[in-house]
Amino acid sequence: MRTQVAIIGSGPAGLLLGQLLTNAGIDNIILDRVSKDYILGRVRAGVLEEGMVDMLDRAGAGERMHREGLPHDGFSLAFDGRDHRIDLFGLTGRRVMVYGQTELTHDLMDKREASGGSSVYEATNVTPHDFDGAGPYVTYEKDGVTHRIDCDFIAGCDGYHGVSRKSVPESALKSYERIYPFGWLGILAEVPPVCHELIYANHPRGFALCSMRSHTRSRYYIQCALDEKIEDWSDDRFYDELRRRLPAEHAESMVTGPSFEKSIAPLRSFVAEPMRFGKLFLVGDAAHIVPPTGAKGLNLAASDVYYLFDGLLGYYADKSSAGIDAYSERALKRVWRAVRFSWSMTTMLHRFPDTGEFGQKIQEAELDYLVSSKAASTALAENYVGLPY
Ligand code: FAD
Ligand code: DHB
Repeated sequence: MRTQVAIIGSGPAGLLLGQLLTNAGIDNIILDRVSKDYILGRVRAGVLEEGMVDMLDRAGAGERMHREGLPHDGFSLAFDGRDHRIDLFGLTGRRVMVYGQTELTHDLMDKREASGGSSVYEATNVTPHDFDGAGPYVTYEKDGVTHRIDCDFIAGCDGYHGVSRKSVPESALKSYERIYPFGWLGILAEVPPVCHELIYANHPRGFALCSMRSHTRSRYYIQCALDEKIEDWSDDRFYDELRRRLPAEHAESMVTGPSFEKSIAPLRSFVAEPMRFGKLFLVGDAAHIVPPTGAKGLNLAASDVYYLFDGLLGYYADKSSAGIDAYSERALKRVWRAVRFSWSMTTMLHRFPDTGEFGQKIQEAELDYLVSSKAASTALAENYVGLPY
């Protein structure tokens, strides 16, 4: 087989890149090691920046998001027993869209099918080859048969645990990492959200986040120890703990109901540099991970795709390599800003085991300053709605 761009990974990064390329007449194949249903069963991010919304529109996959997504003009920072609203729209003139990663992935898969793009699911042993030379190719196995795809470029959109980054010689890669000493225990439940906007809560018992997927579906998270076991967390125990960390008005009005998804995610910051090795590009989680507190992981995948698509379009339409040569530098500049923001939100809102009451007091002073200074609130809002591409 031959294609122009071989894409490893059918998450949001791979699907978005694939669709933009297909729309521009650039041939591509997407390979993923798991099935479509498995990918659609993963519950992940829920907040889209305007840049991501625009990218979905460009891909021609934004129609349902505009119909069913919930535009949010602000969110609440809860601490000291009260809500403090951050007026995103008033401070920046921009808003965010609450729309689940699962839905967005579904829309991109449907669009790809409708436009005849080729995808191979349940492809095993996917391996990129010779991306340092003139003839890159990807091999994979399907139903016991080995296949080879020759290509011009390989886009490694295969997430943190994927094969793309691991295929690059260690000496060619510098990575930066911070592992946080806690995780997030999250549930999804068919109950109306406790508030019409998101609540990020700092509490001496730990961080909590009230998010949603729709007017009838809530996504709630609480900070937990890394060694917690899901089996130890009944829904009742989860809701009791969540309520304790929220201002009284929310705790009292919260509607509870059985969860249909419950999982624990560890929190880490990670960046691998550079994001290009010859004909191989790393895109999205394959190159970087942020803790979820700032809602940036999915949105960074979209900005990476923006820069890479721009470079590939320049290469095929204008025979210019300038865009692909600049990809890593352009993408990393925005990545590091989001890494900084996600780290600062995480540091400000979570209980750290070793900082004690002093740490709590410092956080409260920072939060108090943040909500009483227009300059500080604007800086937070500007980062939350997303820095420009
Ligand atoms: P992925 O979505 O990880 O997609 C990678 C794809 O590559 C997958 O389909 C995988 O099957 C495939 N793949 C992997 N290895 C191979 C291989 N060897 N061969 C072929 N295919 C392969 N972000 C937020 O902003 N808020 C959140 O609340 C949030 N929650 C999260 C919870 C979890 C458990 C995780 C893991 C991430 C979460 N994120 C969150 C981050 C966000 O979901 C990611 O940033 C986003 O999915 C990145 O998209 P991606 O396409 O780069 O990678
Ligand atoms: C969601 C996740 C986040 O990490 C966040 O900051 C906001 C919302 C969510 O899953 O809805």
